[in-house]
Amino acid sequence: MTTMKAVRIHAYGGTDVLAYEDAPRPTLGDSEVLIRVHATTVNPFDCAVRAGYMSAYINYTFPLILGTDVSGVVEDVGAGVASFAPGDNVYARAGVTRDGAYAEYVVVPVSDVAAKPQSLDHIHAAAIPHVTLTAWQALDGAVNLTKGQTVLIHAAAGGVGHIAVQLAKLRGAKVIGTASVNLDLLRDLGADEGINYSTTSFENVVHNVDVVLDTVGGDTQQRSWSVLKPGGILVSTVQAPSEEIAAAHGVRQYFVFSSPPIGKTLAEVATLVDAGQIKPVVSTVLPLKQARQAHGLIEGKHARGKIVLQVVPG
Ligand SMILES: NC(=O)c1ccc[n+]([C@@H]2O[C@H](COP(=O)([O-])OP(=O)(O)OC[C@H]3O[C@@H](n4cnc5c(N)ncnc54)[C@H](OP(=O)(O)O)[C@@H]3O)[C@@H](O)[C@H]2O)c1
Repeated sequence: MTTMKAVRIHAYGGTDVLAYEDAPRPTLGDSEVLIRVHATTVNPFDCAVRAGYMSAYINYTFPLILGTDVSGVVEDVGAGVASFAPGDNVYARAGVTRDGAYAEYVVVPVSDVAAKPQSLDHIHAAAIPHVTLTAWQALDGAVNLTKGQTVLIHAAAGGVGHIAVQLAKLRGAKVIGTASVNLDLLRDLGADEGINYSTTSFENVVHNVDVVLDTVGGDTQQRSWSVLKPGGILVSTVQAPSEEIAAAHGVRQYFVFSSPPIGKTLAEVATLVDAGQIKPVVSTVLPLKQARQAHGLIEGKHARGKIVLQVVPG
């Protein structure tokens, strides 16, 4: 059996269950692409899977390789795959329900793969898929954000938020973002206003917005209803907003739990990236074997843009 290095979990738990070790190299099926992983990232979703919070929804088996983002080079393609060939630079969303990209190799359905943005290295290309697909689904799929609307984006300096700010500006919206220690990033991203949530209650200074993008949940979501204008929409990536509370406020609600067509959307995103219209922010790059440290940073709740795990140095 051919082996590779991977970060696997053999049980749910804290960061100490992440084990950098030898694992079998994955084998290709029809309509799949084998990618030599150059970089992956850590998303809060990975931490939730590691801790066992997703086991009620997804039937994982151990040992399990985490990691939903990948940028790398096609190593091989399955029968019937004509759109990619060995040697192609690609990026993809990997492994939500199966082995992922914290590894030297990952297998991804061809429908979830796109050509890597040419203007980005693998480190920055890996920062895009998971959070951009989420922001895209939230602002286009759910809301159809249009020119002249106003959107409040919570955690605007985080993984999802920092892409959502740029997408919303591209759509011609006015963007208000919340952050604390990473407030300075919001201006660089093009946000019109930034609110420091640690010193200011956003609901005291924001009124009549068309859209709230909630990537925080809990109390932040509850306090968000009052800032919407009648007919506005609260979109959450964290917890399904209450239909009853939405109706009581005369607004709508949407919970992001699916993605737009993955490969097709990533191809569109690559065009925007190469045109300089979306720029992923990578604040930390760690080698794959330091996945425990990377999970700790995400769980610290102050990630700036993305935290990347580098698999191939260079
Ligand atoms: N449903 C889906 O399909 C889907 C997909 C992707 C993500 N998600 C979920 O969406 C959430 C966000 O993901 P992410 O990748 O963006 O997380 P992330 O990158 O870890 O978010 C970190 C950011 O959160 C900000 N933050 C922390 N507490 C805050 C608060 N009370 N108010 C405003 N901002 C706050 C921090 O800003 P400061 O450092 O400046 O304080 C930091 O920049 C996670 O819960 C994730 O699981 C869901």
